[in-house]
Amino acid sequence: MKHAHCQEVPNIISQHKVLLESADDVLDLASTREDGESELIYNALSSFAISLKSHIEFENNEFYSKLLQDVQDSAEDTAHVKEFIEEMGRIADVVFAFLDRYDSPQKIGGDIDRFGKDFGRIVGILILRMESEETSVYFIDC
Ligand SMILES: [Fe+2]
Repeated sequence: MKHAHCQEVPNIISQHKVLLESADDVLDLASTREDGESELIYNALSSFAISLKSHIEFENNEFYSKLLQDVQDSAEDTAHVKEFIEEMGRIADVVFAFLDRYDSPQKIGGDIDRFGKDFGRIVGILILRMESEETSVYFIDC
């Protein structure tokens, strides 16, 4: 029988795609650097933040709790899964600190180059994380 968390994998991977698409929207807007763009960037960043928050909520409250239960039920060691989950907590802290730093169109427009670089770094961190999720813990015993 398939484990409970396995049923959620297609859904969670499609959430990653949505997240990456909204990150791309922000990056595209930030790279055009036209006047009045900071309002648009701020709106795109807000959509990205909403996707990210709902993904993290789903991952923590639904997915990772099922995954941990499944690993426990198979009498496997849960330590590395817990560690993996905690790492996401630290990544989320970094991303939310970034979002706090740019919480208005004015702050984004104040130094748009810096914003673009900072956001590029955030996206890089998230891409690495998503790749490692999709190639490791998501599919444990699936
Ligand atoms: Fe994820």
